[in-house]
Amino acid sequence: FPLKKPELLNWSFAGIFGRYDLPQLQRGFQVYREVCASCHGLEYVAFRNFQGHGGLGYSEAEVKALAAEYQITAGPNDEGDMFERPGIPADRFPSPFPNVQAAAAANGGAAPPDLSLMAKARGASRGPVWTVLDFFTQYQEAGPDYIHALLTGYGEEPPHGLEVAEGTYYNPYFLAGASLAMPPPLSDGIVTYSDGSPETIDQYSRDVSAFLMWAAEPHLVERKRLGFQVGIFLIVFAGLMYLTKKRVWAREA
Ligand code: HEM
Repeated sequence: FPLKKPELLNWSFAGIFGRYDLPQLQRGFQVYREVCASCHGLEYVAFRNFQGHGGLGYSEAEVKALAAEYQITAGPNDEGDMFERPGIPADRFPSPFPNVQAAAAANGGAAPPDLSLMAKARGASRGPVWTVLDFFTQYQEAGPDYIHALLTGYGEEPPHGLEVAEGTYYNPYFLAGASLAMPPPLSDGIVTYSDGSPETIDQYSRDVSAFLMWAAEPHLVERKRLGFQVGIFLIVFAGLMYLTKKRVWAREA
């Protein structure tokens, strides 16, 4: 079967000077929350990660209120029992299923994977020639490109002769086969945005993919900034060392 290559999109966080687009991340979180969270966990992200530097631009009060909307299983208490309590900022997102077996049982045998690191786990390398350049230009958009392609890639007719297994959906972008157990999760208008952004499958997919990139790499912006500064420093330092060497090893006149 032909595996299609994801379209390469222009992400705000691409390139050496890339930055996350905070309103986009907030919309993406809304999509995750209202659509994906019924099946997929985000177990490495804590509510407090949404606040402050490297966060999603939420205030402390907003994060507290957000955390309190979730029920967290905690314990054991003095009697040795687990109990439910409202979330606090230090809690991580509760997963929709108690374990992988339950997740698989509820989804026709295929467990929906946790999405915390999905944006880094998926997305093919662009091949050997690109590898070095991709390292220096900090290319990492393959993950979000893949997630966007997957979410927008439903609805095509399977090529002639391809049997799509029962309970799975044809998607020519799915890396592990021609069809997957995830039903098309998005449809136009399913999430209501308050900032006037288009309420389309394409826009939802872009936003949630950007959000998942943030979830996988919240410090991406700082890392790029530091990397650039270190690069400049090394160039200046190399120049200084060269001049020093010329002086130390100069021939006596
Ligand atoms: C798999 C994203 C909503 C059920 C996946 C994968 C991604 C993903 C990236 C992994 C694909 C791969 O392995 O390469 C999303 C996003 C969603 C969403 C961003 C929200 C917009 C849902 C919903 C359900 C669901 C609502 C349940 C009805 C599954 C299942 C799999 C899966 C069962 C495993 C598929 C397989 O291995 O055959 N999802 N998903 N997803 N998702 Fe979702």
